[in-house]
Amino acid sequence: MPTPRLILAPMQGLVDDVMRDLLTRIGGFDECVSEFVRITHTVHSRPTWLKYVPEIASANKTPAGVPCTVQLLGSDAENMAVNALEAVRFGADKIDLNFGCPAPTVNKHQGGAVLLKEPERIFHIVQTLRCSLPEHIPLTAKMRLGFDDKTRALECAAAIADGGACGLTVHARTKVEGYEPPAHWEWVDKIRRSVGIPVTANGDVFDLQDYLDIRRVSGCRDVMLGRGAVMRPDLARRIKLHLRGEAAQEAGFAEIAGWINLFFDLCLAKEANNKYPVARLKQWLGMMKKVYPQAQELFERIRAVKDADEVKGILLRFEEEQRGR
Ligand SMILES: Cc1cc2nc3c(=O)[nH]c(=O)nc-3n(C[C@H](O)[C@H](O)[C@H](O)COP(=O)(O)O)c2cc1C
Repeated sequence: MPTPRLILAPMQGLVDDVMRDLLTRIGGFDECVSEFVRITHTVHSRPTWLKYVPEIASANKTPAGVPCTVQLLGSDAENMAVNALEAVRFGADKIDLNFGCPAPTVNKHQGGAVLLKEPERIFHIVQTLRCSLPEHIPLTAKMRLGFDDKTRALECAAAIADGGACGLTVHARTKVEGYEPPAHWEWVDKIRRSVGIPVTANGDVFDLQDYLDIRRVSGCRDVMLGRGAVMRPDLARRIKLHLRGEAAQEAGFAEIAGWINLFFDLCLAKEANNKYPVARLKQWLGMMKKVYPQAQELFERIRAVKDADEVKGILLRFEEEQRGR
């Protein structure tokens, strides 16, 4: 039996190329997916693709060598196909389609989760892209369980499989359920049993036990980790150690403080201004502080600071303190 795979979830505004770089360096992930690239009426230029998915210029791999899939979001099948071909021309080697985004602006334009009301449109989009893309380019999709309710979940999954996708990730909630727990992992099992393509389970895996539970309930071999992987950056690594039968020790905060410094450096290398690195760091600490009191402490120290050099000084001192503890 092939080893279970862990996939880093696409998370627009949260898991950009820098976060993908960091989390795949820490380890445990077999693949990651880009934030969605929205397709409306235009055809994106090379700089636009590179802005969203710089990995396409490096053989579709993060610096740690983990493959990155390009995710598209849209509703105009023909224009999505033209754009997918452009992405491939610029280097993409795997395309994923988003049928789960709950954002009102996206849904208003008939993209994301709203398509779950119309499985026939999902089928048309998947089939159009499958027919347009070269055979060697895998096409996959990601869905929620429905928009208002789950009554058409199996139809949507069938539309994706029948349209020619070779894999499906299921975030186990409807659009109206938002991010409210619980995630309905038993529905992933229903979908898995009903389609003939591999299904990846997703939703509410925040620790090792959740991982074991989602595997058991969904029956899926492969799991996608989203917020849990950002809140506990060593989660994927620990899961992989556990699967290998090795001690799955949690990282100490001294090590995490090193990753925080690295993340900030990577942000600065991407955009050497004050705004982007400081905002991204505050966003990440804002999530990590739900798990680690030390992240809360660091968050308080930088809360009012806007200058990147000043933040860097605080981060270095903080890491030193953590190492000395
Ligand atoms: C801030 C944020 C942005 C997201 N952006 C995307 C996206 O671009 N594409 C997508 O398919 N899903 C997106 N999602 C959904 C996640 O990929 C995932 O399905 C969801 O968070 C549930 O998994 P989790 O409980 O492990 O976080 C996003 C979720 C969050 C919280």
